[in-house]
Amino acid sequence: DKGNHRHFMEKEIYEQPEVISHALSHYIDFHNHSTKAIDAAIDFKSLRGLAISACGTAYLAGLVGKYWFERYARLPVEIDVASEFRYREMPLSKDQAALFISQSGETADTLASLRYCHDEGLKIGAIVNVKESTIAREADAVFPILAGPEIGVASTKAFTCQLAVLASLAIAAGKARGTISADEEKQLVKSLAEMPRIMSQVLNAIQPQMEALARDLSKFKDVLYLGRGTSYPLAMEGALKLKEISYIHAEGYAAGELKHGPIALIDENMPVIVIAPHDRFFDKTVSNMQEVAARGGRIIFITDEKGAAASKLETMATIVLPNVAEIIAPMLFSLPIQLLAYHTAVFMGTDVDQPRNLAKSVTVE
Ligand code: M6R
Repeated sequence: DKGNHRHFMEKEIYEQPEVISHALSHYIDFHNHSTKAIDAAIDFKSLRGLAISACGTAYLAGLVGKYWFERYARLPVEIDVASEFRYREMPLSKDQAALFISQSGETADTLASLRYCHDEGLKIGAIVNVKESTIAREADAVFPILAGPEIGVASTKAFTCQLAVLASLAIAAGKARGTISADEEKQLVKSLAEMPRIMSQVLNAIQPQMEALARDLSKFKDVLYLGRGTSYPLAMEGALKLKEISYIHAEGYAAGELKHGPIALIDENMPVIVIAPHDRFFDKTVSNMQEVAARGGRIIFITDEKGAAASKLETMATIVLPNVAEIIAPMLFSLPIQLLAYHTAVFMGTDVDQPRNLAKSVTVE
């Protein structure tokens, strides 16, 4: 049932504040501002490393997770798309654990990577939406994302719930390993707890602007997304979402890679969507944006209030989100990229929930 929405995808975008709040309540104690104990099957305290494997959007969630596990838990993360991971013959050891992220829990390559790690003797954690799935059944520890059924082929709420779970786990791992203080834990958890409310505000606030912008974006054939830090996986997710449902060619790049190739493509025919909250990397990303502007590129700037005030560059559009703690920015900045892809596809008249050539669950290799 789509309720009042035109498509399941739209419904699922708007469900995010509610489902994320539900997911978070499984991992954090809202009252004491602390993380709850992690399933003892994976002992984060004694781990030497983590191997993460997944496909598509779930892989991009894992890539954001890598930044968090390394930063907050000082845990080295090896991550790859499952279709490469399973064949790479990477050296793995029993003091690593392996995490598999999958909405459906049935993706063939992800399952094969899981079995490979299991045979190597690693403890297996599964971050899944479907709790009765094969991946969940074969794991030692299951971390449900509690997003509820996701019908739209383009993943939206599963992505942000995966991020919420990964953030909670990284904080809990940091606590277990003594790499974050009790005070830091409290601050991080407080920020997570505020997120659902801020997400609702943002969804309502930006909707008209995203719809209008989608009309302009639909005229282009190519789009480049740029981001740095955790905004880099988000840039790739933005590009994936847009190409999946609008069939516009899009690429996501690390902002710092611009001058190593993609800058050759910059002209007025390829809008550049820059995802840049006012974080530690902001000034660096702005200098990449200047390089785009200097070559006649059109910029769609997705930033926060501080970022908007700090940049003087002329843009095709600037989307301004509230200033928030760094840990919740990836979830919040997912909203404009989802809405932009959604409205562009609607405007172009594609089959949003069932895009051509795609399946919701990819059970073949
Ligand atoms: O069910 P899974 O999370 O394992 O699926 C992985 C990918 O097939 C999936 O995320 C795909 O990339 C989506 N269509 C993205 O919107």
